[in-house]
Amino acid sequence: MRNIFQRLAAIALSAVAATTLVVLTGSVVASEISDAMVAEFQVGIEPAFTAQQGRDLWHNKTAEGRSCTSCHGDSLKRIGRHEKTAKLIEPMAPSVNSERLTSRKKINKWLLRNCKWTYRRECTAAEKGPILLWLSQQ
Ligand code: HEC
Repeated sequence: MRNIFQRLAAIALSAVAATTLVVLTGSVVASEISDAMVAEFQVGIEPAFTAQQGRDLWHNKTAEGRSCTSCHGDSLKRIGRHEKTAKLIEPMAPSVNSERLTSRKKINKWLLRNCKWTYRRECTAAEKGPILLWLSQQ
């Protein structure tokens, strides 16, 4: 029969295992960061953003033929390619790339850069909100 110490050790071990699981699988999900950002972009704007708006914005081509797909490609679940440098870009969909949309700093940095590249101006909150909402659901 196992003594009390063995039983305590077993309990402690399973607690550690459970905690590790939470850390590995559930600590930072894309929607935690992006949901907060979408809510902030929504302030003062009505009606509520929809994912469909984000999807349309993502695909809309400018007069010069640029869009978010120029580098991120046609499928968010596949690797993209930078239109100018040909550098590969990891998939954008959080469902296949768990690092996506987990850092506010990174999201802001790239939204700024990529909007300037695509539209030659910064994006508005009414553009960033729906795009983030849609991206976070992919
Ligand atoms: C000129 C090429 C290019 C275009 C066009 C482009 N992107 Fe990107 N994007 C990148 C690169 C490069 C990265 C950073 C590399 C990486 O994270 O793998 C990136 C990263 C991002 C990220 C960061 C995601 C994260 O959390 O890791 C977001 C958000 C994003 N892009 C949104 C957009 C949107 C919205 C558009 C259209 C307005 C767009 N991108 C158009 C090249 C581009």
